[in-house]
Amino acid sequence: MGELIAVLSGKGGTGKTSVCAGLATALAQQGKKVLCIDCDVGLRNLDIALAMDDMAALSFLDVCSGAYRLEQAARHPIYQQLHFLTAPIHCPADQIDPNAFRDMLTAARQHYHYIFLDAPAGIEAGFSLAARFADRILLVTGTDPAAVRDACRATQVLELMGKTNIRLIVNRVTEKMFATMKLTVDDIMDKAGIPLLGIIPEDENVVLAAAFQKPLLKQTKKGAAAACRRISLRLQGLQTPISI
Ligand SMILES: Nc1ncnc2c1ncn2[C@@H]1O[C@H](COP(=O)(O)OP(=O)(O)OP(=O)(O)O)[C@@H](O)[C@H]1O
Ligand SMILES: [Mg+2]
Repeated sequence: MGELIAVLSGKGGTGKTSVCAGLATALAQQGKKVLCIDCDVGLRNLDIALAMDDMAALSFLDVCSGAYRLEQAARHPIYQQLHFLTAPIHCPADQIDPNAFRDMLTAARQHYHYIFLDAPAGIEAGFSLAARFADRILLVTGTDPAAVRDACRATQVLELMGKTNIRLIVNRVTEKMFATMKLTVDDIMDKAGIPLLGIIPEDENVVLAAAFQKPLLKQTKKGAAAACRRISLRLQGLQTPISI
């Protein structure tokens, strides 16, 4: 049975989509069968982060509606084990039939080791859609106070939904920022109130990889790519030190 992982934040632009792509490709590199689903209806861009933006891709709605089969999901040109469903452009998240969505995810669990749901910003319908059926939630925050506060708020919403398996990823970490703000990852963890799964450094390769349409883990083995790889090991229950 595959594991369903929702990548959420609350605040926009914290790096959900980049982290989702980084973790999915890291797991695919390790031989896992992975499905990425873009749940950012209307503002989809997971295809860019996966370096698949020039490929035709079915949307999850195409599969939910029964018009296409899950096996027809787009295949990554480099990582054959990594498949992708984009978000529909014109169907608001609150109009997606949760039962059809759940059935698609149930089918996906039979085929894939990991299924990632990349959520939109905010705590509205798209957030709930991604979180609702997830086994595990990864909450991506930045180091800035607004992102941490929104992660805290998102945690409260998730707990009201009965979600308990929530882990924090602090993205775009720089030593300088911590020193200037007199802040530590422990402070962020305490404020957000959830355990830490990993930290990812600020790394220009994240932007460059997307711009050159190269997967981050092919662009570099260091920095954010190495951090995603370490987090992917932790997702599999392996112990790796938390550092940047
Ligand atoms: N670790 C990082 N280092 C440098 N740049 C990063 C890092 N993570 C993300 N970025 C950049 O930050 C921007 C926002 O990232 P991304 O789109 O992944 O965030 P998001 O949370 O998915 O945004 P949205 O809420 O709009 O969906 C992008 O330009 C991305 O390249
Ligand atoms: Mg995004």
